Amino acid sequence: MTISGKAKLAGVIGWPVGHSRSPLLHNHWLARYGIDGAYVPLPVAPADLELAIQALPRLGFAGANLTIPHKEKALALVDRATPRAWRIGAVNTLVVEPDGAVAGDSTDGLGFLANLAQERPGWSAKAGPAVVLGAGGAAAAVAFALLDEGAPEIRIVNRSRDKAEALAERLGDTARVIDWSERDRALEGAALLVNATSLGMSGQPALDLALDRLDPRALVTDIVYAPLVTDLLRAAQERGNPIVDGLGMLIHQARPGFAAWFGLTPEADAETRRVVLGS
Ligand code: ATR
Repeated sequence: MTISGKAKLAGVIGWPVGHSRSPLLHNHWLARYGIDGAYVPLPVAPADLELAIQALPRLGFAGANLTIPHKEKALALVDRATPRAWRIGAVNTLVVEPDGAVAGDSTDGLGFLANLAQERPGWSAKAGPAVVLGAGGAAAAVAFALLDEGAPEIRIVNRSRDKAEALAERLGDTARVIDWSERDRALEGAALLVNATSLGMSGQPALDLALDRLDPRALVTDIVYAPLVTDLLRAAQERGNPIVDGLGMLIHQARPGFAAWFGLTPEADAETRRVVLGS
């Protein structure tokens, strides 16, 4: 990889940031396209987030991604943000504009939809009700994306009911809140099930969900990609449901940032998946 004195710079701001696969992904693309650039992990404690964002243009960075726990707080710290970032209430992509302003965007919803479109080309949000487990930033991005794609009903199911209600209110009439204790029943008649909680991720508690009531034709997807095939996806696959893993969402949400910083929209193909998986 070429890193000259003119290299374009970007990185991922997180705390901790060591778990992030974004450096692997972006540096793979930089090498693949022979771009003079670098993408580095930027460990930034919450108290230093504002300073770090302000430092990006001053250090000559083209921009950065944001990961846990900064996505929501950063929205208030950027100079401008896209309408979709305001609507979702979070930013995951920062771009330093020619005037030195830091602009924030949220590309998680786009990544979610692009992953489904790639893995299940015939899939449509219009097919029927969607069940979204979770009500955090990731769930908001997924739910607004489904709303924009014409989902006829979005069932928000979250452990903390107040958060589910707040998200449903922002979504409008298409959204319904179903209590976490009723989650098994929430699956009845659904065409799509999305896990947008951290449950099932390595090191996190398991997702306790019975799929008996789920239509075997319903598409099941998980935003968790470590492990790649979560217990939810395995259980769904065993009963014949189509599944899509969460790795593609990570890859697709990264593409607009790479394009803005490095000037080219990168491929999201099998080779990219292999690199991000580290296999
Ligand atoms: P993100 O930005 O990735 O969405 P988040 O805002 O911390 O992260 O949201 C995590 C989601 O996982 C939330 O919906 C959370 O439920 P609460 O709103 O009740 O906190 C959900 N979650 C995390 N641990 C959970 C657990 N043990 N049981 C049920 N839900 C859990």
